[in-house]
Amino acid sequence: MADNKRPENMERITTPELAQAFIQEQLAALRAQIGDRKVLLALSGGVDSSVVAALLIQAVGKQLTCVHVNHGLLRKGEPEQVIEVFRNQMNANLIYVDAVDRFLDKLAGVSDPETKRKIIGAEFIRVFEEEARKLNGIAFLAQGTIYPDILESGPVKAHHNVGGLPEDLQFELVEPLKFLFKDEVRVVGKALGLPDNMVYRQPFPGPGLGVRCVGAITRDRLEAVRESDAILREEFAKNGLAGKVWQYFTIVPDFKSTGVRDGMRSYDWPVVIRAVNTLDAMTATVEDVPFALLQHITQRITHEVPGVNRVLFDLTPKPTGTIEWE
Ligand code: XMP
Repeated sequence: MADNKRPENMERITTPELAQAFIQEQLAALRAQIGDRKVLLALSGGVDSSVVAALLIQAVGKQLTCVHVNHGLLRKGEPEQVIEVFRNQMNANLIYVDAVDRFLDKLAGVSDPETKRKIIGAEFIRVFEEEARKLNGIAFLAQGTIYPDILESGPVKAHHNVGGLPEDLQFELVEPLKFLFKDEVRVVGKALGLPDNMVYRQPFPGPGLGVRCVGAITRDRLEAVRESDAILREEFAKNGLAGKVWQYFTIVPDFKSTGVRDGMRSYDWPVVIRAVNTLDAMTATVEDVPFALLQHITQRITHEVPGVNRVLFDLTPKPTGTIEWE
């Protein structure tokens, strides 16, 4: 890679005007680099890959092919939003791959966190590789690499690299965001017209809900994570916490406890709520969520999510707890 150092005179992109200047500069650079050749992009729907997609759609239109792999570990509504925004609104070439069964079958019975991560990563490369092989004449691979990925600072994972592709699929890289920090990527995304809930979304790990369905992933607990997360996000948005709290989500551990419902004893899963604030994800404090709101969310989760009879709130800062449970 020629130069991986942010130019010293590069101004911080903090305003729509600066974002527009960056966009115009990048469009020219991308057109010059790509010419009339074809580009491939793994589009997760996260901020970085979405901004890269939006830039490339403006720069080279249908010369870009986006591949969205649904591995079954995405949040509620995410695959639908990727299709709506990129295929329907931006008219992109988008291949949607429903790989849910494939991933969940591979993950069945696997409880070790590192093994789960490895399976998810390796299977992702395999699915992406299969799709890449079906396409002809691809010259470039676009990636949503951002500057912290290059600096490898702190716990930010280098998750943007579709590394591990075999030798014959080593395309030339296109990384238009590689000198940007996350806040700058968001300003650019906004200027490109991406929806706010895509641009300002909270961090979401590459292995997705897989790290929040503790132990061996089962479909019932995975749905409990997804549904309870959707309720939490809806309630945080309604109550003005969505833009304020850095990261908030739910976890479903792999044990059951007794409960009572309609006069009958139940034996069901708990849901844990985590809501934290941090600057760099190295340390984190717990958000002081109003008790009445927690009670309301508890009421909703225990009544709307099948198989759940308890809701707990994680009061642990980092350290000693990590942000995710795994
Ligand atoms: P922990 O749990 O280590 O998490 O306190 C710190 C931050 O990193 C996020 N995280 C990940 N992000 N790929 C990612 O892109 C991953 O595999 C991953 N694991 C954790 C976590 O959500 C938190 O924001």
